[in-house]
Amino acid sequence: MQKLLVRDLAQIVSPAGREAPLRGGGLREVELLERAYVLCEGGSIAAVGAMSALEPLDGDVVELDGRGLCAIPGLVDCHTHPAFAGDRVEEFSLRAGGASYEELHAAGGGILSTVRATRAAGEDGLAEAVERHRGWMLRAGTTTFEGKSGYGLDRETELASLRAVRSAGGIPTWLGAHTTPPEHDDADAYLDFLLADVLLEAAPLAEAADVFLERGAFDAGQARRYLEACRDQGLAVRLHGDQFTEAGAIPLAIDLGARSVDHLEATGPDGVAALAASDVTGVLLPAGALFLGRPMPPARALADAGAAIALATDFNPGSAYCESLPLVCSLAATQLQLSPTEVLAACTVNAAHVLGRADRLGRIAAGYAADLTLLDAPDWRYLAYHLGGDIVAGVVKEGTVVWARAAY
Ligand code: NIG
Ligand code: FE
Repeated sequence: MQKLLVRDLAQIVSPAGREAPLRGGGLREVELLERAYVLCEGGSIAAVGAMSALEPLDGDVVELDGRGLCAIPGLVDCHTHPAFAGDRVEEFSLRAGGASYEELHAAGGGILSTVRATRAAGEDGLAEAVERHRGWMLRAGTTTFEGKSGYGLDRETELASLRAVRSAGGIPTWLGAHTTPPEHDDADAYLDFLLADVLLEAAPLAEAADVFLERGAFDAGQARRYLEACRDQGLAVRLHGDQFTEAGAIPLAIDLGARSVDHLEATGPDGVAALAASDVTGVLLPAGALFLGRPMPPARALADAGAAIALATDFNPGSAYCESLPLVCSLAATQLQLSPTEVLAACTVNAAHVLGRADRLGRIAAGYAADLTLLDAPDWRYLAYHLGGDIVAGVVKEGTVVWARAAY
């Protein structure tokens, strides 16, 4: 079996231990090796150590020169919306001139304008779009991505979206309850349709269900109805919550045993305390807050209170046209007051936990998947420090170099 030896790395860093999710002081502990190697075999990490301790290797070994590079665990993006066609550059321009995201949504633009373009793209067009977006994420250092449906909102296009995410190697989440499309009278009628006509086919294609619990989208009672029905079909549950208003997302997430509640820009002190005392991970999306010019989520308060936190891009055409987790890491350090070690845990092991994969992803340690992101940097903390930098030199997925920059 072929082995891959990444040698002479300036640093290898990994969240410490084997636990997940990490919280509190655990978010600040890393294992750091200098002048080090990673040996990959059969898709997994076989050994990690200092170059001075590297023994001669037998068999078929491909070597990768890691001089000048740092290895971090392959980045895990646990919240993206890659299944869309078209763009929202016109809306972006209007917002840049002062229009609000919520007003555009209420006027039938926003999410619904992407729904029109996505329905028109057809299954092949949608698959091509997800593949293109996946390539962008990979080149930004993401080795595992979750991808939501939610721009089809009819049976055919929702199912096509889930298939497109899976065939691009992503982990599909059914966001049927994103907003109500115009062919239904109201949100309740739309949910009737989703649960009667789509759920049984969506459930085997997805791993989780998600809902946009927000003024103008779905209220807490509607979100509960949708998520309970999805949970009954074996899906994990997640929520978009507290993006603009606190409308009951955190209590509902806790009550349902959700994997995560994502956004939290509007979360107040009671929500912080409740989330911190629960098993629900808070997924922070600072690129979205930045893109919409909204307040940042209370990340420091959440981390200090002991909450499990993760970071993700929220890549989508309307509120976060950003596929770069390294940029999100910089925003987390500069806008959310999270330290580089907290940032690293939040987009590796804790993000993997949100996706139910923390036993295999998110760490560089023997037995974990051989997924590595190689940074063009003398110190791994450049991940957050190099704001918008061209920092990803290469990406290893299951022991194979799947992308490398031409020169670094
Ligand atoms: O996570 N908030 C709801 N859904 C997406 C944005 C969707 C869009 O604007 O197209 C989000 O921000
Ligand atoms: Fe989102």
